[in-house]
Amino acid sequence: MNICMIGAGYVGLVTGACLAESGNEVICVDIDAKKISLLKRGEVPIYEPGLETLIKRNVKEKRLTFTTDLAKGVKNSLIIFIAVGTPPKQDGSSNLDHVFEAAGGIGREINGYKIVVTKSTVPVGTSEKVKKIIAQETNHPFGIASNPEFLKEGAAIEDFMKPDRIVLGVEDSMVEELMKELYATFVRTGNPILTMGIRSSEITKYASNAMLATRISFMNELANLCEAVGADINAVRAGVGSDPRIGSSFLFPGVGYGGSCFPKDVQAMIETAKEHDHVLRILTAVEDVNQKQRELLAGKVIRRFKRNLKNKTIAVWGLSFKPNTDDMREAPSVVIINSLLKQGAKIKVYDPVSVHNARKEFGNKISYGKDNYAILKDADALVVITEWNEFRRPNFEKMLKLMKSPIIFDGRNIYAPHKLKEMGFEYYGIGC
Ligand SMILES: NC(=O)c1ccc[n+]([C@@H]2O[C@H](COP(=O)([O-])OP(=O)(O)OC[C@H]3O[C@@H](n4cnc5c(N)ncnc54)[C@H](O)[C@@H]3O)[C@@H](O)[C@H]2O)c1
Repeated sequence: MNICMIGAGYVGLVTGACLAESGNEVICVDIDAKKISLLKRGEVPIYEPGLETLIKRNVKEKRLTFTTDLAKGVKNSLIIFIAVGTPPKQDGSSNLDHVFEAAGGIGREINGYKIVVTKSTVPVGTSEKVKKIIAQETNHPFGIASNPEFLKEGAAIEDFMKPDRIVLGVEDSMVEELMKELYATFVRTGNPILTMGIRSSEITKYASNAMLATRISFMNELANLCEAVGADINAVRAGVGSDPRIGSSFLFPGVGYGGSCFPKDVQAMIETAKEHDHVLRILTAVEDVNQKQRELLAGKVIRRFKRNLKNKTIAVWGLSFKPNTDDMREAPSVVIINSLLKQGAKIKVYDPVSVHNARKEFGNKISYGKDNYAILKDADALVVITEWNEFRRPNFEKMLKLMKSPIIFDGRNIYAPHKLKEMGFEYYGIGC
């Protein structure tokens, strides 16, 4: 099939590349001319494992192309995905300007029957607005669908190629049939394509992220209780997660959730409910707990050094909001580093792939190391923020020799506290 992907970001690029990999002809359209010219030169603007290989192969085979020309994308395609950003507004509600701009553009360029699919995460009712905007611009027939994306950055290709489920909001059978045909190759093992009404599909995406965020905030709150009463959240987590009704995923306490989805989607859901005179009490608490949790680790450092961080060097391992991505949108690292900087600390950071984004955020307010050991030299403490694999089993002997004082603040509970203490480290985890 001929596909147009509007928005060549984390979702658009992965979706576009994966759809091309399965034989479709995909044209990715983005308004960011710099991004498109990078892609045309064969460079991939984001870090996502496996993406570069996939893009290169499909570009070479001429199934994947990039352009800033929306008309070209729309005119040559049957299925048009809208995968542009939906960032939060000041009040937390979703900014849909990009989605509506894309819809207007589609309406102006449409030249025959098309299916317009909203893949961006959008508040309930948005796809209906997209339909209206397109209809105002054209008399050509078109169908619409809502097809929220559930990929996880860091494992996005695997998630897209082997989805747990595909959610499809549709209002007519022709769209349903064509969309099912498009996705058939990805669900050969029997995972479901769940068709439903468009509004339900839009809500399903928010409900999934909200549920996951709730688990995280619940465990963070529980971790803080464990710490107060002398219990160990790691043991509690194992005990709770062994119940199959609960399951062990997403039960890890830490420095609060971040990234481009959970914070904005939780806030947007709260705002959507407000617009319908409804209060989502649980999600309001989830958000509140998360705000506090993001401050927690910096607070531990500040208290340990008796609020005197002037002349103290703090090394930071991990900047991205989670491992295997360079995405620093809403990353807890930003909150933590800013708190420490405010107290006068000197910050040295290392992250395997996110330094280019950290430079945009912090410039020369902090220094950047070539590897994780280099920044430990003469450090007064180490703060572990992102649990990259390479941080899980470091050479502790080497760390002891390098650090001025062997103090570790483990924001992800990746180390065994008693082992570190035996080796001579002062250890602070989350809830243990
Ligand atoms: N990142 C994720 O893990 C993830 C997962 C699931 C769903 N989502 C949702 O998918 C959507 C996209 O997220 P993302 O992380 O890929 O965003 P992103 O910021 O990485 O990419 C969005 C892209 O859209 C482009 N764009 C904006 N307006 C445009 C227009 N009018 N025409 C063409 N291009 C335009 C931007 O230049 C940018 O390249 C959001 O709604 C997000 O909530 C994201």
